[in-house]
Amino acid sequence: MKKTLVASLLASVFLSAPVWANPMIIKFSHVVSPDTPKGKGAVRFKELAEKYTEGKVVVEVYPNSQLYKDKEELEALQLGAVHMLAPSLAKFGPLGVREFEVFDLPFIFNDRSDLRKVTEGPVGRMLLDKLEPKGIKGLSYWDNGFKVMSANSPLKSIDDFLGLKMRIQSSKVLEAQFKALDAVPQVMAFSEVYQALQTGVVDGTENPPSNMYTQKMHEVQKHATVSNHGYLGYAVIVNKKFWEGLPEDIRKGMEKAMDEATVYANDIAEQENEESMSAMKASGKTQFYELSAAEREEWVKQLRPVHKEMSSRIGQDVIDAFYKATE
Ligand code: LMR
Repeated sequence: MKKTLVASLLASVFLSAPVWANPMIIKFSHVVSPDTPKGKGAVRFKELAEKYTEGKVVVEVYPNSQLYKDKEELEALQLGAVHMLAPSLAKFGPLGVREFEVFDLPFIFNDRSDLRKVTEGPVGRMLLDKLEPKGIKGLSYWDNGFKVMSANSPLKSIDDFLGLKMRIQSSKVLEAQFKALDAVPQVMAFSEVYQALQTGVVDGTENPPSNMYTQKMHEVQKHATVSNHGYLGYAVIVNKKFWEGLPEDIRKGMEKAMDEATVYANDIAEQENEESMSAMKASGKTQFYELSAAEREEWVKQLRPVHKEMSSRIGQDVIDAFYKATE
């Protein structure tokens, strides 16, 4: 009760100031490099929002966990200390919105067109609406890409994971995925991963190529397997009270900016990942391995049961809605 009161007092202090300031300062915080699909999408949103609101709004983008790390950024958003975020879909569990972990299920999407069928349809909207009771409004989905597995030892067969300490985002599905491989999952903030890999605190991790490359993880991982076993993308979210309290003309301008920035971010994501992959291959620091059809089949067989195992956490109805949307 006390905590709620402090939180709402803090929120009113933080929220009322920018709404009436001229120009209004909007803080958009994220944890990745500016040189990633999300980093570039945030900058594009800033430019468009400032244009469409005719300078009434200034969007300050804070990349690379400069302001907040993974868990803190969600708390800061709820308190109103920051206005916008684009956390990975794997990070909503600790907030109590477990359904988003459906996106982490191994081999849930065959490709980006499957993903679009979810994010651009009613199932995607239904999930964003689940954030509202938490004081958060979901504006849109931004892509990153499909993940590779990396470590200092080859990861061809599922037996290669035995006993490896693998860094994960804060998702119970990702935890179950690595347990199914007999590895030891370890939750860690994104900003700490490079050092943890370098010092051997963890042995390996999973990332889309753009994150692996821009954090220089390829310099501290000798092997990677292009398994495309899972997807990593984002929900762009705002503090609901702040958003709904915006003057109508400003909110309209920001919505238009978000629509266009979303198209842009989703258009560049695939190519950004391809370029990061080529740059890592050219560096020669990590050896990349493509799974044969038989090896992939072995991974699918081992990891697919995670869907069933996680059904009571995510909700079988949500999983079924994903199956249906992508069939
Ligand atoms: C991670 O923690 O691995 C990612 O969620 C980082 C990001 O935002 O892409």
